[in-house]
Amino acid sequence: MSERLPAVLLVCLGNICRSPLAEAAFRAEADRAGLDMLIDSAGTADWHTGKAPDPRSVDVARNAGIDISGLKARQVIADDFHRFTHIFAMDDANLAHLRAIAPPDATAECALLLDLDEFRRGASVIDPYYGDAELFALTWQAVTTAARAFFAKLEKPPR
Ligand code: 4NP
Repeated sequence: MSERLPAVLLVCLGNICRSPLAEAAFRAEADRAGLDMLIDSAGTADWHTGKAPDPRSVDVARNAGIDISGLKARQVIADDFHRFTHIFAMDDANLAHLRAIAPPDATAECALLLDLDEFRRGASVIDPYYGDAELFALTWQAVTTAARAFFAKLEKPPR
């Protein structure tokens, strides 16, 4: 493992559906690995700033035994590109937005979250906002698989 623990920011559009679930999945895996890491989520848009996650995300996390009802949406800020080592976007539009607003001296590495999943490289975590509970369940599955892959790599760094 590198000297500095990674610090991970998960980013979607509104920070109420996908990225709070991704944050929960990364926290769960960090806890399992016994790593006290900085993990947070944010949105590229400010539409839902200060709001709790969508109730459908709260439900799907609760089904996995995790309470995300206390999270509050916020927008990505310039300082995030220095505080975090990794910023994972849920889709191409969010990744393009991150790249457009990244300060020139940004140190964070920006990538698609599903690039972590060898079977879904280049794919997006589909926006479930206009979908149903089933789509939220698929979101949870996608972000959990990606989080597990991230921590598996951390625990077994390539030689
Ligand atoms: P998220 O989902 O980006 O996963 O949080 C959305 C939340 C809100 C909206 C769109 C997507 N919206 O249009 O308000």
